[in-house]
Amino acid sequence: MGTNIKPYNKDKSSKKEQIAKMFDSIAERYDFLNHFLSLGIDILWRKRAIREISKFKPKYILDIATGTGDLAIEACRLNPKKVVGIDISNNMLDFGRVKIKKKGLDNIIQMTYGDSEDLQLEDNSFDAVTAGFGVRNFENLAKGLSEMNRVMKKDGIVAIIEPAEPVIFPFKQLYNLYFKSILPFIGKYFSKDDSAYTYLPQSVEAFPSREKFIEELNKAGFKDTKFIPLTFGVAALYVATK
Ligand SMILES: C[S@@+](CC[C@H](N)C(=O)[O-])C[C@H]1O[C@@H](n2cnc3c(N)ncnc32)[C@H](O)[C@@H]1O
Repeated sequence: MGTNIKPYNKDKSSKKEQIAKMFDSIAERYDFLNHFLSLGIDILWRKRAIREISKFKPKYILDIATGTGDLAIEACRLNPKKVVGIDISNNMLDFGRVKIKKKGLDNIIQMTYGDSEDLQLEDNSFDAVTAGFGVRNFENLAKGLSEMNRVMKKDGIVAIIEPAEPVIFPFKQLYNLYFKSILPFIGKYFSKDDSAYTYLPQSVEAFPSREKFIEELNKAGFKDTKFIPLTFGVAALYVATK
């Protein structure tokens, strides 16, 4: 299962190729747009996710769909021995590497090109696996989640942040206005990519509901699965163990 919503409708290439192309194209402006369009709230969501995994004192952390590495950087607060960031967009990784070097974290964070749905990593090797705003983009969600489960140690923890559609009044209405009308317009202007910020609300809409996503996590082998609504349900933090 995965959504077949793709960024570039007229393009015949696979969702994965299109996702890599889209993030390569917006990489330079990704950090700015992320913080600007979310009014900086994305920073708090990453902090919340890392706080959740902190109870497990993870030493080896894998950050799936790491992009420019913001969640991997935040994870360094936990004093890990190693954080591995994996992504299919070389440009996102390159911008991340520069940022990580500037922060003096390049001895801890290793940014690696790779597909989350086919991880070239050993079974049971990470204490914690994180994914910020990434799993929605997977071509095959079940495969991606089972790979996350495979590389995580028994009793490890997974934390996944995804934007969500709020269900309560008036946040649902405000969300629709902002996310579906205002955000694509501003995003298009700043990113110079016609499709990226139209794809964003479409992909959130097509993503499984909270209950369904929890089912997917359980099917992938996770247990103690729960979700924590963030900022009136505009995002969700899913947490589970193995
Ligand atoms: C919205 S960005 C999130 C980046 C970062 N996690 C953050 O918190 O800002 C999504 C990232 O997922 C990556 N991605 C999508 N599908 C992937 C896959 N199958 N394997 C690895 N990375 C993937 C994209 O290239 C992109 O960099």
